[in-house]
Amino acid sequence: MTKIHEISNILLGWYRLNKRELPWRDDRNPYKIWLSEVILQQTRVQQGLPYYWAFIQKFPTIKALASADLDEVYNLWQGLGYYSRANNLLKTAKIVHEQYSGKFPTSYSDLLKLPGIGPYTAAAIASMAFGLKYPAMDGNFFRVVGRLFEVDEQANSSTGKKLYHKLGELLLEGVDSADLNQAIMDFASAICTPTAPNCDSCPLISHCQAFFNGSVNKYPLKTIKNPKKIQYLYYFYTENKLWIRQRNKNSIWNNLFEFPNFISSNPVDLNDKIMQVGLYEDEMPFELDGNPYYLKHHLTHITFHIYILKIFSNFALDKLWKTNGFFVINPKDYKNYAFPKPLLDFITNHLYHV
Ligand code: ADE
Repeated sequence: MTKIHEISNILLGWYRLNKRELPWRDDRNPYKIWLSEVILQQTRVQQGLPYYWAFIQKFPTIKALASADLDEVYNLWQGLGYYSRANNLLKTAKIVHEQYSGKFPTSYSDLLKLPGIGPYTAAAIASMAFGLKYPAMDGNFFRVVGRLFEVDEQANSSTGKKLYHKLGELLLEGVDSADLNQAIMDFASAICTPTAPNCDSCPLISHCQAFFNGSVNKYPLKTIKNPKKIQYLYYFYTENKLWIRQRNKNSIWNNLFEFPNFISSNPVDLNDKIMQVGLYEDEMPFELDGNPYYLKHHLTHITFHIYILKIFSNFALDKLWKTNGFFVINPKDYKNYAFPKPLLDFITNHLYHV
């Protein structure tokens, strides 16, 4: 038995004894596996389970999900963030239902074409549902494999990806790829943890090059991230009226509702009483009514400094907003509209206390 095959067998032996019982592992149903993977892109297993059950209860099949309204999907998705993932969930359900007669495509390359399915998710579905030999390379995988073999390449570089992929393929040779991929996930979260791994109880201790060399904390190599872009985002509302409009499709927070706002890469002087009030080139005098509400919001590539400004109502502003597609709602009806997380937090915690 080669050394790498021995490693796979030890992982599988460990998995047999320590496997987490998870509902999408009961059968190899691609719909359930795909749904769980999309949810788990956003949150950890324990936090993801209630979302998984809520989706399965409401949409037990891909057909049921394919005929859902986006609002229903958004509703179940609330709290997970990144609503574009919820959009993609519905888009993919419709494509699978309409173009593939309700059956997920069974090849890696066709899976990869579906909205919201990238290399990791395609490999996870291909292996867990169809038994294909694709390593599911997520952070868990890079940690376990990076340490076992002291991989001196960054996981997100092109040489790193190739090397990890090759090692993954070797690990999958001659074994059940659904089990091996999931064995690595469970092993990574129970034993080979990011900090203070449980090397004392690790069945792979004698196979781990990083343990042998005392370099466990060095692997996987840290990836150098691009610095996050910083943006200043100003929202406006008035005492009596909540003006909102729906964002368009191809942007962050697509299809969600927003207050009049504008974005700037530099902070603006809030004492300067003439500035843009949510409408790109339009400038308009305004008067602040109270102190701004401030919060920070992090997305993968952007940090937003968000100021939500209460301003005194004025006729010119109302007119400007109206001609730009905003309409007034009763604040008590806010639940009928899906807002980006920072606005929803503001409305529920600070506005009107509805
Ligand atoms: N994280 C993502 N997919 C998973 C799975 N199938 N099992 C455990 N953790 C996971």
